[in-house]
Amino acid sequence: MRIGVLCGGRSAEREVSLRSGAAVYEALLAAGYTDVVKIDVGMDLVEQLKGNKIELAFLALHGKYGEDGTIQGLLEMLDLPYTGSGVLASALAINKIATKKIFNMEGIPTPKFTVVTKGDIAHKGFEEIALQVVEYVGIPAVVKANTQGSTIGIAFVHRIEEMGPAIQSAMEYDNDVLIETFVSGVEVTASVLGNKEPMPLSLIEITSVTGIYDYQAKYTPGMSDHIIPPRLPEEIQEQIKELAVKAYLAVGCQGLGRVDFIIAGETIYALEINTLPGMTNTSLFPDAARYMGIEFPDLVDRLVKLALE
Ligand code: DAL
Ligand code: MG
Repeated sequence: MRIGVLCGGRSAEREVSLRSGAAVYEALLAAGYTDVVKIDVGMDLVEQLKGNKIELAFLALHGKYGEDGTIQGLLEMLDLPYTGSGVLASALAINKIATKKIFNMEGIPTPKFTVVTKGDIAHKGFEEIALQVVEYVGIPAVVKANTQGSTIGIAFVHRIEEMGPAIQSAMEYDNDVLIETFVSGVEVTASVLGNKEPMPLSLIEITSVTGIYDYQAKYTPGMSDHIIPPRLPEEIQEQIKELAVKAYLAVGCQGLGRVDFIIAGETIYALEINTLPGMTNTSLFPDAARYMGIEFPDLVDRLVKLALE
């Protein structure tokens, strides 16, 4: 079976995706797949898939046109199996606002939030909107572009004056901006593997040198630490895993996913789901699997098999 590792693409996470793609490519070879082609996703994708006679797409893409359901839709039309979630789950999970609405409906705790659209700004202007937002979510707050990954388009707001500019910056990435109450606590991520009966992998506590787990901390070796298992009571860890699987199933994820959480004392808050989590050598998902004895080649092999189920 000829596998195409799809990576690169045109999202803001292109560089991360190229690194994920290179790591996945090596792991597939190590797993014994010999017929593997790496494809940098561009406008000629269909020609590339056809020309290379690809029979399964291994998605190592992140962000827009990769993690958002668009490429999944194209692959469905071409009748090509692919790793990870389908169209709907991908489109929902990339949308942080839609995901939080589902969390609320399913009783999965998530920080209080509000949404600002470009229409709201056209109507009322940044200053008035900023005041309303601060009144509702309080300060400190976190401002997020709705559909970005890797902490791109995110700002932490500590003073009222910072709110308008933060919303404006996030709007450079997205028409819709999510503003959440900032929750101070332990950052934990829960990797989930599987289709109908998904299994939670080891939880990872994330710390970073600067205190903020941003783009730089995520992708510069030595800038962040993965603590496995997290320094949290066993009981809380079990609750997090249960919530992660619940969130994964509620959104309809398949193959793999990573649910990010903040734990404040005994309270667990789910933040978002990443349907195509990073697969670079500093990434969380492969680390969680490795801790459970699933080495990277074994992991990619399982993902191929899950795609064919
Ligand atoms: N969006 C990045 C790739 C992650 O969640 O790992
Ligand atoms: Mg994300």
